[in-house]
Amino acid sequence: MAGTFTRIIFLARNFFRICIPVSAFCICPTISCHIRLAFVNHRAMIRPILIHPDPRLKKLCEPVAEITADLRQLAADMLETMYDAPGVGLAAPQVGVTKRLIVMDCIKDGPPEPMALFNPEVIWSSEDLSTYEEGCLSIPEQYADVKRPAEVQVRWIDVDGKTQERQFAGLWATCVQHEIDHLNGKLFIDYLGPLKRQMITRKMEKLKRELARE
Ligand code: NI
Repeated sequence: MAGTFTRIIFLARNFFRICIPVSAFCICPTISCHIRLAFVNHRAMIRPILIHPDPRLKKLCEPVAEITADLRQLAADMLETMYDAPGVGLAAPQVGVTKRLIVMDCIKDGPPEPMALFNPEVIWSSEDLSTYEEGCLSIPEQYADVKRPAEVQVRWIDVDGKTQERQFAGLWATCVQHEIDHLNGKLFIDYLGPLKRQMITRKMEKLKRELARE
């Protein structure tokens, strides 16, 4: 029980850290209660986040055939990594694993709601669009307006291997679409014009050189 208690404290601490204005934190840098309990037995680890440009961020990720203990561990690690960043979503390729798994928690006020979605797919999109200033943990401190469907219906496999479906709106809709894009090798800067995209990519190349020197 001590482990459970520590874990809940950890989630609460990180939850407060992400309580900053939405535009100031990254979409990409991610539990109803039962999902949280499913993760409690795993000792979660913060994994390094890949920075764009990286060939692993451009790959089409493989579907998950079965929810193994390793994949549950990966989901727990990704949530830990996302809360630590802090961010509201993270996709497996961002930690160098080219499998179809995303994690999210877009709750700003209220108890955290960490989610892990295996093989997520958009099965319906609204005609209404919404524009949101997006960021990405793999493209630190760069933000740009991206227009996407305002609401989407998503189907996925949960951490217990059960198929789930939910309609997302608001920040959740933006986040789930942004993260699913990652599984198809697509970044939010791919929605921008070539000049802006190149400018951001050059900044990231410079950042990576600086980080390599440290
Ligand atoms: Ni991202």
